[in-house]
Amino acid sequence: MKKILAVALALGALMSMPARAEEIVVKFSHVVAPNTPKGKGAERFKELAEKYTAGKVKVEVYPNSQLYKDKEELEALQLGAVQMLAPSLAKFGPLGVKEFEVFDLPYIFPDRVALRKVTEGPVGKKLLKLLEPKGITGLAYWDNGFKIMSANKPLRTPDDFLGLKMRIQSSKVLEAEMKALGALPQVMAFSEVYQALQTGVVDGTENPPSNMYTQKMHEVQKYATLSRHGYLGYAVIVNKKFWDGLPTDVRGELEKALAEATTYANDIAEKENADAVEAMKASGKTEFITLTTEQAAAWKSALKPVWSEMGSRIGKDLITEVAKTTGAE
Ligand code: LMR
Repeated sequence: MKKILAVALALGALMSMPARAEEIVVKFSHVVAPNTPKGKGAERFKELAEKYTAGKVKVEVYPNSQLYKDKEELEALQLGAVQMLAPSLAKFGPLGVKEFEVFDLPYIFPDRVALRKVTEGPVGKKLLKLLEPKGITGLAYWDNGFKIMSANKPLRTPDDFLGLKMRIQSSKVLEAEMKALGALPQVMAFSEVYQALQTGVVDGTENPPSNMYTQKMHEVQKYATLSRHGYLGYAVIVNKKFWDGLPTDVRGELEKALAEATTYANDIAEKENADAVEAMKASGKTEFITLTTEQAAAWKSALKPVWSEMGSRIGKDLITEVAKTTGAE
């Protein structure tokens, strides 16, 4: 009896001991290589978040689809298996937030200045709010860049796309884009693209140069056209319940870290992509094509009808609002 009492007392003492301050872990999963604008942005966020919270928060970055592929990572975020992601804006459709596909419309961003007016203005904020009913808080936009088209044949005119199997992200706008060029779009997770190109499951793809280079796609694509026909960027998102449940001071420090990481990621994105083009050129594996003015105009007139075609999906008013903000025609 005495022994039982002693154990109970000891247990009681143990349980009333103040708990060791629990470390908060933020798992940040993404699908690209560490040496990309997004990969570097994630590392910078980790560094700053851990510094500003003086070790209260530990950020674990999992690059290259190590934990989850495109679709799974969004499900994992909603379930709380990871806390933070930065999916491309072309990947929110399957979640039921189709409006983000406005970012995929061909030629809707003449340049990065125009893009910023959207991401840093009221339209950008409005779009992030649409994620809340899905249990997701949208915190920031991170840049990657303007896309190039690649294949094993030169892509100079829309006719060159006829019958080509082109890998796309899971966006209906990108599906319409490839169809408008006469290609056969195939949705595929990013982590599977290199092998699909290598084995001929698909003939070509589109991506900003930084993604093409860091996934070594240039080793399995003979040609790339510097077309800048569309944009690829990211929304940095967190599990809403997790985020709202953070102590206010910790959340404040994380917001500060993210704001700085955002500036950093957006500052390096353009150069990262320019450097990737140079590195791929230097490798001699891919031949780069610059469109003539006439060719560029032919691409644009083939692709522009996608805007009206996608009006009912994305919302005509939203398309008009974005185009007005960017000055695109
Ligand atoms: C892709 O799937 O092509 C891109 O979204 C990958 C990325 O995250 O940049």
